[in-house]
This record gives sequence, C-alpha cells and structure tokens, in this order.
Amino acid sequence: MAGFSSLIPLKRAFTSATRNLTAPSASISVARNLFTGGGCDEIYGWFSISVMISKTVLWNFLNPYDLKLIVGEPGVFSHSNGIRKYNTLGNTGALTAPFHHLLRVNQTNKPAFLRVQSMSYQFVADSHASPKRIVKTEDEQDFSDSSKKENAETPRKHQIGENIPKKDKIKFLVNTLLDMEDNKEAVYGALDAWVAWERNFPIASLKRVIAILEKEHQWHRMVQVIKWILSKGQGNTMGTYGQLIRALDMDRRAEEAHVIWRKKIGNDLHSVPWQLCLQMMRIYFRNNMLQELVKLFKDLESYDRKPPDKHIVQTVADTYELLGMLDEKERVVTKYSHLLLGTASDDKPTRSSRKKKKPELRIPEAATEGAAKAELQEELKENLDNHQESEATTEKQSEHGADDASIPDLRTVCNGQWVLDMFGQKMAGEDLVFAVNGEKFEVLSVNPSTTLLEFLRSNTPFKSVKLSCGEGGCGACIVILSKYDPVLDQVEEYSINSCLTLLCSINGCSITTSDGLGNTEKGFHPIHKRFAGFHASQCGFCTPGMCISLYSALSKAHNSNNSQSSPDYLTALAAEKSIAGNLCRCTGYRPIADACKSFAADVDIEDLGFNSFWRKGESREEMFKKLPPYNPDKDLVTFPDFLKEKIKCQHNVLDQTRYHWSTPVSVAELQEILATTNSSKDRGLIKLVVGNTGTGYYKEEKQYGRYIDISHIPEMSMIKKDDRGIEIGAVVTISKVIDALMEENTSAYVFKKIGVHMEKVANHFIRNSGSIGGNLVMAQSKKFPSDITTLLLAADASVYMINAGRHEKLRMGEYLVSPPILDTKTVLLKVHIPSWIASSTTGLLFETYRTALRPIGSALPYINAAFLAVVSHDASSRGIIVDKCRLAFGSFGGYHSIRAREVEDFLTGKILSHSVLYEAVRLLKGIIVPSIDTSYTEYKKSLAVGFLFDFLYPLIESGSWDSERKHIDGHVDPTICLPLLSSAQQVFESKEYHSVGEAIIKFGAEMQASGEAVYVDDIASLPHCLHGAFIYSTKPLAWIKSVGFGGNVAPVGVMAVITFKDIPQVGQNIGYISMFGTGLLFADEVTISAGQIIALVVADTQKHADMAANLAVVEYDSRNIGTPVLSVEDAVKRSSLFEVPPEYYPEPVGDISKGMAEADRKIRSVELRLGSQYFFYMETQAALALPDEDNCLVVYSSTQSPEYTQSVIATCLGIPAHNVRVITRRIGGGFGGKAIKSMPVATACALAAKKMQCPVRIYVNRKTDMIMAGGRHPMKITYSVGFRSDGKLTALALNMLIDAGCDVDVSLVMPQNIMNSLRKYEWGALSFDIKVCKTNLPSRTSLRAPGEVQGSYIAESIIENVASSLNMDVDVVRRINLHNYESLSKFYKQVAGEPDEYTLPLLWDKLEISADFRRRVESVKEFNRCNIWRKRGISRVPIIHQVVHRPTPGKVSILNDGSVAVEVAGIEVGQGLWTKVQQMVAYGLGMIKCEGSEDLLERIRLLQTDTLSMAQSSYTAGSTTSENCCEAVRLCCSILVERLKPTMNQILENARSVTWDMLIQLAYAQSVDLSARTFYKPESSSAEYLNYGVGASEVEVDLVTGRTEIIRSDIIYDCGKSLNPAVDLGQIEGAFVQGIGFFMYEEYTTNENGLVNEEGTWDYKIPTIDTIPKQFNVQILNSGHHNNRILSSKASGEPPLLVAASVHCATRSAIREARKQYLSWNCDSGDHTDVSDIGFELPVPAIMPVVKQLCGLESVEKYLEWKTYP
Ligand SMILES: Cc1cc2nc3c(=O)[nH]c(=O)nc-3n(C[C@H](O)[C@H](O)[C@H](O)COP(=O)(O)OP(=O)(O)OC[C@H]3O[C@@H](n4cnc5c(N)ncnc54)[C@H](O)[C@@H]3O)c2cc1C
Ligand code: FES
Ligand code: FES
Repeated sequence: MAGFSSLIPLKRAFTSATRNLTAPSASISVARNLFTGGGCDEIYGWFSISVMISKTVLWNFLNPYDLKLIVGEPGVFSHSNGIRKYNTLGNTGALTAPFHHLLRVNQTNKPAFLRVQSMSYQFVADSHASPKRIVKTEDEQDFSDSSKKENAETPRKHQIGENIPKKDKIKFLVNTLLDMEDNKEAVYGALDAWVAWERNFPIASLKRVIAILEKEHQWHRMVQVIKWILSKGQGNTMGTYGQLIRALDMDRRAEEAHVIWRKKIGNDLHSVPWQLCLQMMRIYFRNNMLQELVKLFKDLESYDRKPPDKHIVQTVADTYELLGMLDEKERVVTKYSHLLLGTASDDKPTRSSRKKKKPELRIPEAATEGAAKAELQEELKENLDNHQESEATTEKQSEHGADDASIPDLRTVCNGQWVLDMFGQKMAGEDLVFAVNGEKFEVLSVNPSTTLLEFLRSNTPFKSVKLSCGEGGCGACIVILSKYDPVLDQVEEYSINSCLTLLCSINGCSITTSDGLGNTEKGFHPIHKRFAGFHASQCGFCTPGMCISLYSALSKAHNSNNSQSSPDYLTALAAEKSIAGNLCRCTGYRPIADACKSFAADVDIEDLGFNSFWRKGESREEMFKKLPPYNPDKDLVTFPDFLKEKIKCQHNVLDQTRYHWSTPVSVAELQEILATTNSSKDRGLIKLVVGNTGTGYYKEEKQYGRYIDISHIPEMSMIKKDDRGIEIGAVVTISKVIDALMEENTSAYVFKKIGVHMEKVANHFIRNSGSIGGNLVMAQSKKFPSDITTLLLAADASVYMINAGRHEKLRMGEYLVSPPILDTKTVLLKVHIPSWIASSTTGLLFETYRTALRPIGSALPYINAAFLAVVSHDASSRGIIVDKCRLAFGSFGGYHSIRAREVEDFLTGKILSHSVLYEAVRLLKGIIVPSIDTSYTEYKKSLAVGFLFDFLYPLIESGSWDSERKHIDGHVDPTICLPLLSSAQQVFESKEYHSVGEAIIKFGAEMQASGEAVYVDDIASLPHCLHGAFIYSTKPLAWIKSVGFGGNVAPVGVMAVITFKDIPQVGQNIGYISMFGTGLLFADEVTISAGQIIALVVADTQKHADMAANLAVVEYDSRNIGTPVLSVEDAVKRSSLFEVPPEYYPEPVGDISKGMAEADRKIRSVELRLGSQYFFYMETQAALALPDEDNCLVVYSSTQSPEYTQSVIATCLGIPAHNVRVITRRIGGGFGGKAIKSMPVATACALAAKKMQCPVRIYVNRKTDMIMAGGRHPMKITYSVGFRSDGKLTALALNMLIDAGCDVDVSLVMPQNIMNSLRKYEWGALSFDIKVCKTNLPSRTSLRAPGEVQGSYIAESIIENVASSLNMDVDVVRRINLHNYESLSKFYKQVAGEPDEYTLPLLWDKLEISADFRRRVESVKEFNRCNIWRKRGISRVPIIHQVVHRPTPGKVSILNDGSVAVEVAGIEVGQGLWTKVQQMVAYGLGMIKCEGSEDLLERIRLLQTDTLSMAQSSYTAGSTTSENCCEAVRLCCSILVERLKPTMNQILENARSVTWDMLIQLAYAQSVDLSARTFYKPESSSAEYLNYGVGASEVEVDLVTGRTEIIRSDIIYDCGKSLNPAVDLGQIEGAFVQGIGFFMYEEYTTNENGLVNEEGTWDYKIPTIDTIPKQFNVQILNSGHHNNRILSSKASGEPPLLVAASVHCATRSAIREARKQYLSWNCDSGDHTDVSDIGFELPVPAIMPVVKQLCGLESVEKYLEWKTYP
C-alpha cells in the first residue's frame, strides 16, 4: 500500500476522513497503526517521532487532539485512465499540533524537535516532489540520514493543509532553524513549511533566508521568496529587483528577467544604478538577446546616462559588431573613446557603500564575497525593513564565470510571459512536470490554454511534431502519450494529437515524438528505416506523424499480447488502419501502407510494394532478412524512471493558483470548485475539460479564468458492467468505451454494434483523448453533429448529471432537449446503456449507419442513424411483425439527434411488407427536416430513407431475421469490407548510367521520418522574434476605410499592424511577380477580392498574431465603386478580361466548318463547369525574415520560386536584389501553390522585419491559407462536337471562360495548357475561343497540371457524350480517336518528337493486358446484372501531357576530403529532385573512372537553395525541374572530370590505379579548380516534349448512399529511362491520388462575396488511405532511348494526375447503369421521376450527394413503388 503522503492531498484527506469516520477511538487505533507502521508501510517523517519519544508519550499527545485519521483499507477505484487512487487519508493539522505541544513542553529537546518539525513540514510539502524513502519499521529509520537523501534541488510546494500552525510558531520555528545555518536542509525545510502554509511567515526574517539561499545557490527558491515579498507590496525597490533579476539570471530564466526589467525598471532609467543595467546587459549578452542589449543601451543614452566604465562600452560595441551594425559600433566607440582609452576615473574595480559613492560607479566584478555578503545584509535590511531603495550587489565573478558560456536551458522552461501572469501570486502546489523523449521538463507557470504542440515547438528542440491543421484532422502533430500506473506498475501508451491537447493535462506523463523514437544521432528506429526503404516519404511533412501512428499500433499490438513479446500480433489490417487518420498529400498512401504492413504478422511479404530492401524475385526468407529488424523489447520506448518516482510520490495535482488549472479528484471536490462561481454566467469563466478536442471544432479563442480537468475523478472514469447494462463514466475516452463495448466476453450484440460504429468517430488520436461525455455535452449544448448521441438514443441510454449537489438522471431523449448544460453548472457524470436481450420467440435487431466522405472515419457524417427493433414471426402471414422499434437519426442538420417517433408508431405492430415500408419511408421524409442553412438537404433525406430501407428490407425479402444478417441485393455497409490495399508495381531499373536509374532511397528520407528535417517553421529564430498573421478582405470590391481592432484596443501581444502605408517610399506595393506581370502585396485604398491581403498583424507570438488578425475590424465602404464581377459570364459582359499574349494563345487545327460538315452527327452547345481545387500542402505558407547588416535581409521562405521572391522583396523594400538572400531548403509540399502565392508571404515578412528591425516569422494558419490560396482555375466550357456514326470525330468547337480571379498570376498559360492536353484525341478539326476572365474573386494560380487536367477531362467528357449518343462502348470510341503519329504531328507539330517516341498506342494495348481489361469489362457487366443497389463501371483513359525544359544553373564543388557539395536552383518539394541530382552527380563524377568513384553517392550532399549563391534560380514547376537540375550538374561534373583528368593521368604514370581520395588530394595540391558552375540552356528544338500514360479504373457505386469505391486502378506511364524509378513511382501514385481528390472529393467553393467557404480539414476532404484504389497497380514503361531527353528520362510530377479522370469516367459509367435500372422500374404510380433519361453530365468533383442525385434521390421509393404496384 502506498504511503499517505503520496496520495490525495491532505486537505481533501482531512475533509473526507472526518466525513467518513468520527469515532475517536477508531481514529486513534488507526493512528496507532499509522505510527507503528501497521497497515501503512510508507510513511515519512512522522515515524521519526517514535524514535525519540515513547509510544506512551505519543498517546498522551495524541489523545487530546482526537485525531481523525484514516479510512481503513485502501479503496481502489477502477479508473479507466489507468490510474488507481486510494482513499487512505491523514490529517495534517491534527498531526502537527502535537509537535507544537511538544515544542512548548519539552524545550530540552528543542534542536531535535526542531529538526523533526522541519522535516515533517518538509515531508508534507515535499510529498509530491521527491523520491520516497520507504520506512518499513521503526528500526530501519535513520532520521539523521534522511535529509541527505532528499533531493534538495527539487522545488517543493504543496496544497495547503488545514489547521496550519500559527504565524508565531512558524516564525519561531523558522528562526530557530535558521540559527542552524550550517544545516541548509533545515533552511529548506523551513522554507518549504513556509511555502506549504501559505507563507504565513514574517517578511523581515526572509532577508536571512535570501542570504542563505544565495549562498547555497538556491536560485529558484530565491526567486520564489523575492516574488512573494514583492507580491505583498513590500521591498518594491531597485535593490530587490536587482536581486530578483540576478536570481532569475542564475536560474537561467533570462526571458523572465527581461520581462521584469521591461515592466518594472526599464520604463524610467533615470535612477537605475549602472550596476543593475550592467547586470541586465550581461544577461542579454549571454542569452544572445543582442537586440535588447543595444536597445537598453540606447535607452540609457536617451536618458543622457553616461556609461561609467569601459566594460559597458566594450560590451555594447561587441554587440553591435555581432549584429553587423558596424556604423553603430563605430559611433559608440568614438563617443566613449575616453573610457576605452582608460581615461575614466572609474576604470578601477572599486567597491564602497551606496551612501558613500554613486551607484553608477560600482563595479561588481571586484566585489569580494565577504563584501558582497555584508552589503547584502545591509541592503536587505533596507529593502525589507525600511523599504528604501538600495543597490543590487550580489554578483560574484566566479559564478558568472561558470555560466558565461551557457545557453538558457530549455529543459527547465519558464517563459517570461507566463511567469508574468503569476507575478506576485502565491506559489503553492505541484509543478507541471513531464517527460519528452525521456527528458524531464518542468514548467513552472504556463497559460493554461497553451497546447502541447505550442510547447513542444517553441520550447523544446523536438521539431518532429508539425502543425498543419491545428484542429485534430490531419495527424501531423501526433505524439505518443505514456501514463504510468504506480499501483499496477504498468505503462499505458497511445497516440494523441498535440494541437488540441492542453499542456497542463499531461502533467506526470511521458511524451514520445518521432525524433524520440530514433534520430540521426542515436540511430533511426526501424519504422523510420522502413518508411525510407518503402519510399513512403516525399515532402516528409506528414511522415513523423505517420510513424507515430504506426508506432502506436505496434505498441498496442505488443501490449495486448504481453505474454508473447513479438510484433506478430499486428495484423495487416490494423497496420493499414493505423494511419487512417493521417493525411498525406504527396505519396498517395500506397507506399506508406506497405511500410506499415511490413510490420504485420499476417502479411504476405510478396504483396508488399516496391522497395529498396530487396529485388524482385528474391526468396521470402531473403526478403524478411533484408527488412530492418524490429524488436519490440528494444524498439518500444520505456517510461522514464524519474517520472515513475514522481508519480509514486505525488498526485498529479497542479498548483491551482499558478496554472489556473484545477484537478479535482472527486465529484464533491468538483462541486466545491463550481460552487465558488457565483451565478450561472460565471460558468463562462471556467471550463471543464477532458481531452479538449472540442476546440478542434469550435476553435474557441475565449480566455478562461480557470480550467478544471475532470479526467482524474474516479467516479467519472469508471466502466461498470452488469446484467442491466453498462455504465460509463463521462470522462472515459472513446477508445476505452469501444474496448469495453467490444470486449470478447460481452454477449451484448447492441454494445458491439455501437462499438463498431464508434470506431468511425473521428480518428484514433482523437478517440484516444476525446471523452464520451465531452461528445455528449457538445452535442447537447452546441449542436455538434454527434454520432454517439444517435447511437445512445437508439439504445435507450440514460445520462446522470449533477448540479449543485442535485443528482439527475435523464433518458437520452430528454437530455438532448433539456436546456444547454454548458450554460449551467451541470456536470455530466456518466452514461448508462441498458442491456438488450431478445426472448426466445423474438428477434433483436440493431444496426447503425453513417454516410461520410471517408468510410472508416476522419469525416463527419452527412447523416447517421441507429435502429433497434424487436421483431417476431407472424404465424398467419409468415411475415415479420415489428413489436417495438427505436429509430434514431442524427447529424443531418437538425439541432440534435432525434427519434422518428411517428415512423416507430406506424411500424409497431405491423407486418413488414413493401407497402408498409413504402409508407414508412414516406413518413420519414417528413420528419428529417434539416435546418435551412444545411447543405444537401434532399440528399440527407434520401439517406435516411435508404438507411431505413436497408434495415427493414432484408426482413421482408427473407422473411426471417438474423442478427449478423448479410445485406441482400448488393448494398453493403462500407465498413464491413474494410480496405486492404494490394499493389503490384512493375518497375524497370536500369544500370546503364549507374547510379542514375536505380531506385535509391530518397535523400534524407530517414531524417524526414524522424522529423529532424528542417522546414521553415522549424528554424530556430533569434530571441524576440515576432510573428505575423494576415488580415484579409471579406469583401469582393470596396473602399477600405480603416483597419483596426474593436474599441481601438490592440489585442494582447500586438506590436504593429502593417499595411501598404508601411512600404518604404523607395519601394513598391508589390506582392508577386510572374512572367505576366506583378500584383499588389497589400490592398491599398480598395480591395478587389475577398481573401486579398489587407494588412499584417505583428505580435509577440504566432498565437497572438493569429488571434489579433481574427479580431481585426476592417471598415469597408461599397459606395461609388461599382458592383463586383463575380462570375465569368459577368466578366465577359463587362469585358473584364486579361489579354492573352499571342505567343501563349494556342493554334487551332484544321477547318472547323469542314469538320462539322463531315460529321454524321453533332452534339451542340453542351455546357460543362469545372470547379477549383486547393493545394492542401501539409506545410502551409511560411517565411522567416532576419534583418542583416547594411540594409540586408535573410529570408527563409517555403517557396518554389526563390529568385522571384528575392526580386519582389527587393522591389518592395526599394533595395538592390543583392541585399536580399532568400534561402529555401525544402518545402512541405507545394503543388504549384508556393510558386506565386508564397511571394507575398515572404515579402510581408521581410517588410515587417525591416520595419521592426527584428526577426519576423509567418506561419500562415490553415484557414487563412485556404482563404488566400486561390487554387485551381474554375471554368465554364461550352462545346459542339461533330462525329461520324462509327464514332470517329470530325470537329470540335469550344468556348471557354476561365476564371482567373482578380489578378493575372500565371493565368495566361491556361489556354495553352488546356489545349495541350485536350489535343490528345484526333478531333478532326479543332477550334476554340478561350477568354481569361478578370473577376473580383480570389486570384487563381497554378495547381499541379494547371489547365492540363481540365483539358484532358474536357476531352474525356466529350468522348463520353459522343459514345453515349451513339450508344457505343466508350472505350472503342477512345481507341478509334487516338492519334497515329501523323495526326499527332498535326496536332502537336514539332513537339511530337520522333515516331518511336509516340508510345501512347503501345501503352494502351499493354494496359489492356496488364489490367485484364477485357475480362473485367465483362465481369462488370455481370456484376451489374446481379446487383440492384451496387453498380460498377470501368474506364480506360489515355493522356498526353506536354512539358518544357527551362534554363537552370547548377554547381558542384569537390571538397578537400573528397566529399561533394552540390547546389541546384530547383527546390526539393518532395518530388525527389535532390535524390535524382545526387545520383546524377555520382554518375557524372564517376565518369573519371577511378577506384571508389562508383561509391560516390554517399559522399554527395545537396545544399539548400540560396539566391545569392545560385543566381538565376528561377522557379520549380512544370515537372521538368529535376531533369533540368540533373543536366546542369551533369555539365558541371563533365567540367570537373576534364579538369581532373591530367591529375589522374599523372598519377597513373606511376601507379596502377588511383583512388578518388588520392586524386582529389593531389588535385588540391595542384590547385585544380574543383568547383564548377554551369547554366544549362536547353536546345529550343527539343525543349518541349510529350508524356504519355494510360490508366484504367474500376469503380463501384452504392445506389443507396452515392458512395463510390475505387475497386482497382492500373496505370502505365512512360518515364523514358527513369532517373529513379522509386521516385517516379511515388510521383505517379501521388499525382494520381491528388487527381482523385480533384475528380471525386475536394470542393473548394466561394460564398456570395467570393470568400472561400472551406476552412480546414472539417470541410475539405483530401483522399485518405480508405478512399484510394483498393488495388493500385502502377507500371513504369522503360521506353528506351530518347535522344533529346536528359539521359533519356521523362517527367513524372504532373502528367499522371490527368489519369485520375479514369476514376471519374468509371463512376459515370456505373451511374449510367443505375439510371438504366431506375428507368426500368416502371410502375403505375409513377410518383418518382427524378431520373428522367440516361443522359447526364457528372460534375467534378463527383461527391456522394452528386452521385446519389444522379442515381436517383428517390430510388428507394421508386423501387418500393415498383415492388408494391408492379
Ligand atoms: C477531428 C475530430 C473529428 C471528430 N469526428 C467526430 C465524429 O465523426 N463523430 C462524433 O460523434 N464526434 C466527432 N468528434 C467529436 C469528438 O467526439 C469530441 O470532440 C470529443 O468526444 C470531446 O471530448 P473531449 O473529452 O475532448 O471534450 P472537451 O473538448 O474536453 O469538452 C467538450 C465540451 O464539453 C464540456 N464537458 C466535457 N465533459 C463534460 C462533463 N462531464 N460535464 C459537463 N461538461 C463537460 C467541456 O467544458 C467543453 O465545453 C470529432 C472531434 C474531432 C476533433
Ligand atoms: S495539426 Fe494536429 S491534427 Fe493536424
Ligand atoms: S510526404 Fe506526406 S504530405 Fe508530403
């Protein structure tokens, strides 16, 4: 049993004990046990009593105090959070009283008793901080030694006990203890007593304490003491502040010292002693706060203060030098040259009393310790007793000498801002202590709204935790949370998100990040290695989160099979599902899934995809051997021992005052806390919190006065099962609820069904921290579209609540309609779900439904439902009768989940039949009434109908029930057959250009997986870095009257609001530059589109900047400005067009009139519309700007266009380009979105840095990024097409209106790009009229395959239409119209290349075989014949994509050790550019053919792009940058090889061979220039070329829900001779999946003002692992030599995206089948005719509501009608 001091805080213990046990005799007997060790074997200091006094004496003391101790045996609550708590209690106050009695009566024992008392207090105070000293028996106690065992360094605080000793007693005690000055432990004991009992301590005595603390270097305690004195309004003098600053400095809390300086001293520098100023300067200097240092000095100068000695001047001069401010240095040196030359009278170290000499003249370095001490005494006397000003005089040279070189230690973080919150507050209770990657972190004060992510990213060196969405929807930020249960001695670990988890809630926990699993230094984890080997990391931004998800699954598998410690229990399905909540925009998930499955026991290793571990054809054994081994005993993390010890000794209760965070451990205590709030409206000032995941949805920015963490209340954490049902505490996490509901021994079928459904709620890391209660409260009070309420409503669950001691139980239905409990002080305690058991004659049915964009979670449902029915047989009719039913629906846009009572009543007692069901669904439609602001209302109604149909229809058809029934007629619950990906890539590697052509692992892939790879926001910035956030327009066209904040009060932290007015006069308001022009940085007087940048808020933190930008008030005036152009039609009407330069306007082909005349048939004026798409790069726009010397700036930018960025910044600031160094190392995904749109971000950042003269960082939040990004160009297309009866096309005429938005950007390339891909078919004649419209909508930009994807799709859409009108197989029409070389040359002219380069027909035929296309076409037909509610389609599409080479520089330098540094202009955006370049350099230098040159690969390092080093770097876009860079470095290598050859030959004259190292050494000695830079300029005749590919996809459509599932996709792509097949494969798969997003999922829309509607992961759904093709086969065609290509290679970055149109076409084909079937259901009634004919256009994206609508929103009714009235 644990000792009481490690248990519940004493105050609670006392309350509880007195409540539970009042009989004195009982108490005493327990007390006896306590004192003798009986029943309590770990009791601290109190035992010491028994050493010194007999038990008899003790009884005499105890008796009069009527001790109320103990509550018998420790009660153990089963605590779902894995922590057990005991209720054995003690009474501090009662126990301390005897000692005072003792002290009074027995003065002879004074010293001993004092020590005892001290230690007792210490133990009380220390009970949660220090390692326990276990005392078994009286004999084992050695009290005198105990003090040595205490960890004196650990700050100790404690909850306040009751019956605290009187002030005089403490005073007496402490003073006596202080007498024993040699015993510092006694002092600490006294201090801890002082802290524990609310510092009821005489201030005057503290001067002695401070002196001792200083002597003992107890800086932390010293800070506490001084702050407390100040908080009491005393000692408010310069001297005290001096002491405080010094102590803070020594405690390595420079930031705090700075804050105190700024707030308390720095405002009036008239009389601040120079000594103190010097001290502050030292702090600044040591902590690299150089800007502050020079600011302080300037401030002093502005007060006309003259520096007293040369040291100060020297320090300031040095600082200016370090800052590169040489002019200033010069000025200072000149101005104070007399001091530097030693003419000052005060250059000698002197020391004297303040009264004798002016403080400015004191030089602390010379102070002797004795003098310092004497002075300290004097000062303290003055400070504390007389409250007069004194000097700070405590600095000791030796101490500072030791610290001078040290850097502030982040591991004991105390952010200045946070400390300021607590300044002057009392400090009691426990500190926030936790571990990150095994290291201890102690946070002494923190704003309670701080998230774990904020802390990790700004206060630790671990940067693998990335911010991407900030709302729990992407998985980039996830970490492993480990909790230790001291009773079971067990560690529980699971994944959580860090962006919503509050820091205070992880007290006592251990956090593991991906860089904690392994890293460059300690070696990578097998997960990292396998991610690298399976090529599962491209840009790498998502990869650490992915690794954590997999790790979490491995750990779970391991721990659930503890007895067999092998990884063998991770199934392939679990491995795949582990990453279901993680988003990746680059890879397409397939390689990630393979990396995950490689850890699974049941995977067939041969099914794993392409990797760098083994070669095709190797045996299974060989394959296994080559996988990086995984050993759970070694590779799973362990819980840090120090934290275990802390947990054993403490109770996880944070100091409420400091942290504004309460951790009640009983409902009673919670009630007590809530009772302190006065009225119901006070509830707003406090917040109950469990997982805090609710803020992911509601984005609360409200500041709460206090957080109450209710997750530690045992009554609310329990799960109890009995015959009547299951009771679940409100704070139990959803994951634990699932586990409990799905437990093997649970016979309850209803529970299991609920569990299965709950597995689709959110994602694993939200389920691991989000509680069931939190969900129910959000649903009840905030209209949250909950799944759980629907489930519980159907299962007739009840909730238990408490308010002001009044308990209430409500059934779910009542609960949902009761007043919002968040408006009251009501607490939800638990949920009860009753057991449902069918009798022998009845059947119990329970089904749950949800339809969401992602089948296995991570998406809110359009609607959900849960149905329960008790049914029985009707003997007479042999039908099934509904005895009872509960039909619940939720999430459809109503206020909360509801029951369809009318339908329930209607069905009850009815025998099920088609007509009954028909009536029921008609009734239901009237009940499901979404609110008017709900989208897809009709769709939602149709889903409700579909669910009910699905529930009851099988009973009608089969006449029986079966609880595990299969769905008939083909409609399946998507989750029944969970995805299991398989892939079978065939990749051709080539050794011809070793190591080019080999599938080597991506450069830095393991580092990306571990999270060490540095992105812009990971760059550590200098102190005092400011942060920016954009204020954007919400109006399309208006005058901007003002920009400000409500009440004209700047929100906290705001330093400046920068607008166009802040642009220097010599500069320009320019935000970007493209080949077509420039655009504004800030809107000036007028805004021309919603989303346009108006201003940049600059604040001290990113959080403050974001909050302030959100609060900004922009006043608009729409008068006298005209109406905005908000559509392309309007733009045309008003001639608002951008002029396309002739060279960018494509040429028509042939004679359109002639072509039309040749046509047998024509389809005229068909209209198509295509929407936009957002990039969804995982790393949003980011920049960091650092002012540099001489009006220069260094700007780190996440950009694809560093050179343009440099030029824009220079133009904006009016400085030469050489003053601007733009550096880009890698970016976390770009996809074109960081080509132009990154420039304004970097420019605004640079402008702010210039203006504020300090570093400024901008990391745009997801919502702002989405609003400003622009995305793909929407367009309207109208076409007329002529064709012959055999399907041969003769003419196509198009009119296109492209919405470019408000700015030109790169929009003028669109006509050409669209036409380039559209020309893939032989149209006969082709004519077009393309207008690029200028609207007041967001400016659109390039997104992977801009224009090409639309062009390719338009072509397919037309072909589909032609085939449909001819009733021909569309595949045949496609084939007929594929180009031959001749027609290709007509449509593409010289770009067509050589005849043998035209591989499209070959690919077409190859795919037919590899995809088994013909057979599958037949089986799809068969499938459609057999299934009513599922239809399939299969489609094959060709693509042609034109690319162009661009001039590119490159530089290769061989260093003296033979290593090679390479610079290229191209940016590593995840496309593997660095890897290909690395290979090319190895190949190029290898041409020297010396020994070892074939192993050069590892010796090559790619450097970040730096615009001053790599001029003319242009931009990275258009798919060819990798090739261009490769060619540039190849040319460099050729030069170097030529230069090295003479040296080589020279060596070979005397030696048989030469090694690379020898060669380089000699070349160095001979001064051979080993650095070469080239500028690759492609031949104009071969700069452009065509890429070819073919893809076939098979899609299944669920006619009830409109859900689409990609059964299989096959792609063949011609990569020429791939430079790196692994990289190209990744590009193909990734592009294809991004294309799926465009065609099937991603809606990027604007409202009536043109403001983007979608704001983040809640409403923008990129593909996830469960929405990619279930079978995904990619083949790279090695098409041999291409003379004009770089080592015969071809591009792979963008073209494959076009192939994703195959998915859309296959969907269209399936819908066509559905419509045919619909029309075949002819019936008499004919009420439902929402599908009138087979012809239709399938919009893009083909999201579920769209698909369902085209299949017939009323298909169920129609079918039932048809069945009822055939
Ligand atoms: C990305 C994401 C996806 C999601 N997807 C789904 C989904 O598909 N389906 C679905 O149903 N839900 C979904 N959710 C909601 C999720 O289930 C809830 O966020 C979670 O259950 C809330 O629990 P929590 O412990 O984090 O609550 P908190 O965020 O800590 O609290 C939520 C609110 O409830 C109050 N509160 C909490 N507990 C109590 C109590 N016992 N008594 C009184 N007040 C209390 C809090 O004060 C707060 O106002 C999703 C959430 C996220 C972030
Ligand atoms: S950043 Fe936390 S889940 Fe996306
Ligand atoms: S690698 Fe996954 S987002 Fe880039």
